[in-house]
Amino acid sequence: MDSFGRIHSFPLLRCHSGAPIESLRQRGHKRHERVSESSETDSALRRYYAARAREYEAIYGKPERQRDLRRLEKMLPELLSGRRVLEIACGTGYWTQFIAPAATTVVAVDTSPEALEIAAAKPLPPGRVRFEVGDCYALSREVGRFDGVFAGFWWSHVLIRDQARFLAGLDRLLDPGARVVLLDNRYVEGSSTPVSHRDEEGNTYQRRRLADGSEHVVLKNFPGEDDLRRAAGPRGLAFRYEALDYYWVCSWG
Ligand SMILES: C[S@@+](CC[C@H](N)C(=O)[O-])C[C@H]1O[C@@H](n2cnc3c(N)ncnc32)[C@H](O)[C@@H]1O
Repeated sequence: MDSFGRIHSFPLLRCHSGAPIESLRQRGHKRHERVSESSETDSALRRYYAARAREYEAIYGKPERQRDLRRLEKMLPELLSGRRVLEIACGTGYWTQFIAPAATTVVAVDTSPEALEIAAAKPLPPGRVRFEVGDCYALSREVGRFDGVFAGFWWSHVLIRDQARFLAGLDRLLDPGARVVLLDNRYVEGSSTPVSHRDEEGNTYQRRRLADGSEHVVLKNFPGEDDLRRAAGPRGLAFRYEALDYYWVCSWG
């Protein structure tokens, strides 16, 4: 465990689907096209969040959301207490700082070194958190084995067609019955960025502007409880869902 407490750049950034590029080509043109469309959406997302890293946590300053945030800061550590947690797309580590004191260990993965630098500078329990630069669609077994998962504001950025692939990749790293906790936004008129359009598969998108004036089209889905239950499928034993005013939390295991 000597690597806990440092930022790692494991060879996790393989091809987007986790399979070698050659084997994807062999599966045929159509499959390859779908993967590259998914990749493009995620590449745009990665560029957007890398550029947003320094201004990202302003989102946690919205006055109307403070009551919910205080509840979540208490709820998430309780849900993951005593577990070896894999944190998906940890970003600037806003939630890592609340989960780490309760967890046994946290391996927190994100594609953005800019965000991970901010995360690693947070006051965290010594020797308990390891940050990794990596693609959460292509996590290798080297990352570790876990009995807890946390993904904050990640599920909304996964294309509907990629949800099963993401969860199947995650399963490979989890103990049976591992607890998975997802946190994300509800759409709230007047507080959320308006949805700009919907694609033919039902994914929704927003137009967002950063402080430098750049404009980004960002995939942002707002699933309901039934969508989440369906996505969890048979692994969703003890499925729980709670809607706060601005957020939802769902967990299983
Ligand atoms: C909405 S932010 C969430 C950050 C953090 N979880 C939070 O709740 O504050 C989404 C994060 O996903 C990361 N990301 C995008 N695509 C990724 C991928 N394929 N693998 C890992 N992280 C990714 C971005 O860099 C960004 O930090």
